[in-house]
Amino acid sequence: MTAQTSRTSRLAVYPGSFDPITRGHEDLIRRSLAFVDRVIVAVAVNAAKQPLFTLEERVALIREAVSEPKVEVRSFEGLLVNFAGEVGASVIVRGLRAVSDFEYEFQMALMNRNLAPAIETVFLVPAFDLTYLSSSLVREVARYGGDVSQLVHPAVHKALRRKFGK
Ligand code: PNS
Repeated sequence: MTAQTSRTSRLAVYPGSFDPITRGHEDLIRRSLAFVDRVIVAVAVNAAKQPLFTLEERVALIREAVSEPKVEVRSFEGLLVNFAGEVGASVIVRGLRAVSDFEYEFQMALMNRNLAPAIETVFLVPAFDLTYLSSSLVREVARYGGDVSQLVHPAVHKALRRKFGK
């Protein structure tokens, strides 16, 4: 067997609420492709949250913001590790922006490892100027008419303006 044929394709899932996708998420998707062959952006149904955008809207906005053949966008319900197992992913990608993210992310990574030991969580650090960006801040600023055009893809900007009638 040659090195070429023995090499298996590495797939990551990048899960989240993506309500909506920001430039920070886009940055992490691009960074993931440096060490995996394909990324599935996995949009959580997340019954516990009341999202601004519907599941279908969030998926459609990601597809508009990220048009890259190595990236697929899917929604999932239930446990992330089950979804990762179904699609054959060996890596879960999450972003770590600040210390405040750490505890929740660490808990989640350990629980996911407990549930599925073969799946590794990899934390990525975002670009410097995107470190303090979050979907919730984008929603809040857009809700009150602030300018978020530098923080999201134009399709997302348009969708936010439509949502808030600004
Ligand atoms: O963007 P978010 O809201 O921080 O993403 C959180 C998400 C969707 C990754 C997390 O809530 C999740 O994985 N939900 C699926 C249900 C699950 O597997 N829960 C156990 C995680 S330990």
